[in-house]
Amino acid sequence: MWWQWRRRHWPSPPLLVLIFAATLLPSSSAIDFLYNSFSSATNRTDVILIEDSRVDSTVISLINDSDPLSFGRVFYPQKLSIIPDPTRNPTRLSSFSTSFVFSILPDISTSPGFGLCFVLSNYTSPPGAISSQYFGLFTNATVRFNAPLLAVEFDTGRNSEVNDIDDNHIGIDLNNIESTTSVTAGYYDSVNGSFVRFNMRNGNNVRAWIDFDGPNFQINVSVAPVGVLRPRRPTLTFRDPVIANYVSADMYVGFSASKTNWNEARRILAWSLSDTGTLREINTTNLPVFFLENSSSSLSTGAITGIVIGCVLFLGLIGFGGYLIWRKLMKEEEEEEIEEWELEFWPHRFSYEELAAVTEVVCGRRPIESAEEEDMVLVDWVRDLYGGGRVVDAADERVRSECETMEEVELLLKLGLACCHPDPAKRPNMREIVSLLLGSPQEDLLTGLTPAAAADSTAAHA
Ligand SMILES: *[C@@H]1O[C@H](CO)[C@@H](O)[C@H](O)[C@H]1NC(C)=O
Ligand SMILES: *[C@@H]1O[C@H](CO)[C@@H](O)[C@H](O)[C@H]1NC(C)=O
Ligand SMILES: *[C@@H]1O[C@H](CO)[C@@H](O)[C@H](O)[C@H]1NC(C)=O
Ligand SMILES: *[C@@H]1O[C@H](CO)[C@@H](O)[C@H](O)[C@H]1NC(C)=O
Ligand SMILES: *[C@@H]1O[C@H](CO)[C@@H](O)[C@H](O)[C@H]1NC(C)=O
Ligand SMILES: *[C@@H]1O[C@H](CO)[C@@H](O)[C@H](O)[C@H]1NC(C)=O
Ligand SMILES: *[C@@H]1O[C@H](CO)[C@@H](O)[C@H](O)[C@H]1NC(C)=O
Ligand SMILES: *[C@@H]1O[C@H](CO)[C@@H](O)[C@H](O)[C@H]1NC(C)=O
Repeated sequence: MWWQWRRRHWPSPPLLVLIFAATLLPSSSAIDFLYNSFSSATNRTDVILIEDSRVDSTVISLINDSDPLSFGRVFYPQKLSIIPDPTRNPTRLSSFSTSFVFSILPDISTSPGFGLCFVLSNYTSPPGAISSQYFGLFTNATVRFNAPLLAVEFDTGRNSEVNDIDDNHIGIDLNNIESTTSVTAGYYDSVNGSFVRFNMRNGNNVRAWIDFDGPNFQINVSVAPVGVLRPRRPTLTFRDPVIANYVSADMYVGFSASKTNWNEARRILAWSLSDTGTLREINTTNLPVFFLENSSSSLSTGAITGIVIGCVLFLGLIGFGGYLIWRKLMKEEEEEEIEEWELEFWPHRFSYEELAAVTEVVCGRRPIESAEEEDMVLVDWVRDLYGGGRVVDAADERVRSECETMEEVELLLKLGLACCHPDPAKRPNMREIVSLLLGSPQEDLLTGLTPAAAADSTAAHA
């Protein structure tokens, strides 16, 4: 029987040679590369471009701005050996070092930020990966589960639901959007040791260094503006054997990013990586620098003053409309007592005198009466911005910071425009405003706000 077993299960000689070779050779060969530019990089041979990432002249652009839910990843084509001997020694990890230069440039500096991730993944398309704040990498699972996906996030937005510490931080993500550890972006000055913060989201080129120390389960990350020498002390150090739960034998290595409505260009300018011990040095002298072209997006001081007045005027108009309706209702009851709940929560009503005083001080005249005349110029300006798809540019920073999302800012401004519609018949009534603010979609209310539509409407009205 022995020979029968042997016959049936003993592999054929060519296969034997293969198995023998596989056990002798390292599971994958050493990786050591340097891209000072991506100008001649082609898909599948030099990099793997997934979804919306593209080679754009000399850099890799991860996102396509015309798609609101765009995401993109780029990987090195060859997998990196992370667990050299998975069957006999699954928790002995190997080491590598990498360094890269990236640029994050939003269209609107106060819009919600996203950032990008450096990633180790068993798959070029991790299952269930979603866009928006999930970097096009993670699922929205609230419970962390073991899977070979490990990322270093360079996060330029604060998402409090996942406990982000601020809107400019780096963190270690173990198969989950919620970082296991994170610190504010900055570097330790090599001379005096002090921590120097800097903004990763102004288009300036940022250099990052990551050391993955497998035997010690340790990841060191440093970031600094290009031009600063490699800091001696890393910005972030994470040391935990739990890392072994989030790696596989061989892993793709690369970058991932995603967005929603707000445009934020994410670019990789240069990249080097080595698992042989010596990282080749990136030459940063000729790297491109990205900034926004000067256009209507840069606002003069006059325009900014206009924004403040405009916002107060719009909110005033809405408030005044509400006040009039409320007063009409109150007249029926003939009582103007302040109820207890109002004192407890929020002054939900204003006297006419209060309102007039505030608006007069801010605008220097009686805006309610003159809204149809001089102040309409301001409205036209906001309407022009709206026509150009940039209505949020009209919002003062203080207003933006008080609103939870830019969608809210946009809604308020659109509402303001609707309330100033040249055709009074098309202005929303209070009931419509309230239901809109409570979240029920009333898109028909918010149409005809563009300069062209408004002009048509004015002509028709005249
Ligand atoms: C690059 O190659 C990958 C893998 O074959 C493919 O899925 C992707 O669509 C390609 N991307 C581009 C931009 O050609
Ligand atoms: C971005 O997406 C749009 C449509 O979604 C497409 O027409 C365009 O070619 C894409 N741009 C790039 C650079 O791939
Ligand atoms: C990693 O991917 C390979 C296929 O590329 C698959 O065979 C293997 O099971 C995956 N490992 C894990 C731990 O998911
Ligand atoms: C995750 O996304 C799915 C599909 O988009 C959705 O049905 C589910 O409610 C989301 N879960 C959480 C916790 O947000
Ligand atoms: C340390 O050096 C940095 C930049 O080189 C400088 O900005 C900072 O003020 C210095 N701090 C101290 C305490 O000298
Ligand atoms: C990581 O940083 C720590 C100090 O925070 C240092 O002791 C250690 O040697 C560093 N590891 C590597 C691989 O550079
Ligand atoms: C970096 O590149 C510049 C021009 O591209 C070149 O003049 C310089 O010698 C390079 N530096 C190094 C260290 O290779
Ligand atoms: C853009 O504007 C800035 C300041 O407003 C100015 O210094 C710079 O020269 C302008 N750049 C171009 C390309 O016009």
